[in-house]
Amino acid sequence: MEDVSIYNSNGKRNGRTLDHLRHVESMATMPSGAGKIPRLNAVILEMYRRSIEDPAGFWSDIASEFYWKQKWGQEVYSENTDVRNGTISIEFKGGITNICCNCLDRNLESGISDKFALYWEGNEPGVDGSLTYRQLLERVCQLANYMKDIAVRKGDAVVIYLPMLMELPIAMLACARIGAVHSVVFAGFSAESLAQRIVDCKPKVVLTCNAVMRGSKIIYLRDIVDKALTESTGNGISIDTCLVFENQLAMKREATKWHEGRDVWWQDVVPKYPTTCSVEWVDAEDPLFLLYTSGSTGKPKGVLHTTGGYMIWTATTFKYAFDYKPSDIYWCTADCGWITGHSYVSYGPLLNGATVVVFEGAPNYPDSGRCWDIVDKYNVTIFYTAPTLYVTRYSRKSLRVLGSVGEPINPSAWRWYYNVVGDSRCPISDTWWQTETGGFMITPLPGAWPQKPGSATFPFFGVQPVIVDEKGTEIEGQCSGYLCVKGSWPGAFRTLYGDHERYETTYFKPFPGYYFTGDGCSRDKDGYHWLTGRVDDVINVSGHRIGTAEVESALVSHPQCAEAAVVGVEHEIKGQGIYAFVTLVEGVPYSEELRKSLVNAVRNQIGAFAAPDTIHWAPALPKTRSGKIMRRILRKIASRQLDELGDTSTLAEPAVVDQLIALGNSKI
Ligand code: WTA
Repeated sequence: MEDVSIYNSNGKRNGRTLDHLRHVESMATMPSGAGKIPRLNAVILEMYRRSIEDPAGFWSDIASEFYWKQKWGQEVYSENTDVRNGTISIEFKGGITNICCNCLDRNLESGISDKFALYWEGNEPGVDGSLTYRQLLERVCQLANYMKDIAVRKGDAVVIYLPMLMELPIAMLACARIGAVHSVVFAGFSAESLAQRIVDCKPKVVLTCNAVMRGSKIIYLRDIVDKALTESTGNGISIDTCLVFENQLAMKREATKWHEGRDVWWQDVVPKYPTTCSVEWVDAEDPLFLLYTSGSTGKPKGVLHTTGGYMIWTATTFKYAFDYKPSDIYWCTADCGWITGHSYVSYGPLLNGATVVVFEGAPNYPDSGRCWDIVDKYNVTIFYTAPTLYVTRYSRKSLRVLGSVGEPINPSAWRWYYNVVGDSRCPISDTWWQTETGGFMITPLPGAWPQKPGSATFPFFGVQPVIVDEKGTEIEGQCSGYLCVKGSWPGAFRTLYGDHERYETTYFKPFPGYYFTGDGCSRDKDGYHWLTGRVDDVINVSGHRIGTAEVESALVSHPQCAEAAVVGVEHEIKGQGIYAFVTLVEGVPYSEELRKSLVNAVRNQIGAFAAPDTIHWAPALPKTRSGKIMRRILRKIASRQLDELGDTSTLAEPAVVDQLIALGNSKI
């Protein structure tokens, strides 16, 4: 694989640089020959070294740049006594702060009140809006005051089910301002999924809008919420208030269905409130938000992030991985319904006082040139997206740094992104991270070291990635295995809401002493990291994380489905596609109609984005004698790697495999 060096001031690669990054111990004694290393590299390396050797000093210095009502105590650390066994987590213990105050008030005070905080680009070209930092603060305060008035208090949960209107980041910040814990649910989730989350976190209020246009389709969000709330009531959760934003571009209020007494028009109440609102000071370890994400088993997990560490982590990773400068215009295409939108549409950039483009629409509407239109319209300099985009005709002169997230970017996609989108002059930050990590973990820092197409390169400050084998033994040098993290980092999630045991079992028990990421990874001879995808039953579809177990349970809820097994397959556009093997109830014939109705079951239970791409009829599923489904074999069948099926002798009924292959070939 060739290297692509950018900003490498002396034009040379320095092998020693890489070696030192790989081995923290040897970095500590970096020879004075460091003069040979390009200046920037040496600075970054020194910072990395300090972040590992003196994390308290390193993070304290950075945290001091933020506003703390009360500074953390001597102990930035806390020693955890749980299964992590001695793992240190960086918690800014005793610190009192507020992340909304740091995103807005602090920036206003620094003199950027008239700088644009948000540029909003609507679904329809030509429909747009903007808010300066001052205006954003005013909007946030009005909503915060309203929520306080309806008795939303510190620690209460608030569910936000909104599309990418400016009201979405406004709502997140308003919750943070009053110490409420937001739980944003991606507006592509179905009523069932929304209900499941509402029942789990029991919010005081639900914030939504009446409808939204997605491309040329209208989606009635309030009606979805209504259905979810009816279902929640059935589960003993009753919500007094549903605040509905009238999204006039999609639907007028007269046409909106209404639940008198519970539904309240946003525009009728919020603008009446004062544009200032005092800050609720919270402990660094008070929860900031819950975000549900898919695991390999069972129902979605409520990943809980706290205030102080998350704040420092998102701000710092944003600043360094994108080489942020105050003059930048930054656009991240993610939806705030996912972690990328939390950390890198809202908090990370706003903490840095950046101007952020918020895009409501779809990248291919009205045509596939839309993204580049937007880049040109706002002169975007930093563009952050998932590696699933289309080539087009527009110039992208303004771009300076490109980011990529969500799935392994293959070298040819990387080259296209680098050569075509970035005119061969923009560094690419291929950021590897997860909902659980809060922010970037392994990522290039522009200019810090040479890039390799397809590699996320090296760890961010304070992160110690390790690769372990099946037994959990750390492997050195060039190798592949399971990606774990040694020690902790400020942005680490603290628990799974209401299920700390699952937190320990899922993340800390598989490889004792380490945080287990669920990803496979290899490290090359130069110490670069190459992510190889999930090693558990989680799949990534267009950057959306989906648990195969959830799709299976949606399928088997269909009365004619007896059993289902879902695997991920490579998909040209979506990265991974969803491939479902379905066994029908005895006597039910296969039909195209049934296939559609199975797919619909998934749409209704989870959301359209989780709809299987393929339904493969399975008279039976390959199982071991103890009844365990052999997914390894299913994956091979799904991706047509039939000569790689491996050992099938442990199957209870080996003939099942031949049946499956035969059926799969007969195009149903
Ligand atoms: C995958 C999204 C390769 C990975 C931020 C991880 C990546 C999962 C990358 C987390 C990357 C994310 N290269 N794979 N740069 N970034 N992933 O929680 O499998 O939605 O475990 O967070 O996405 O997905 P999540």
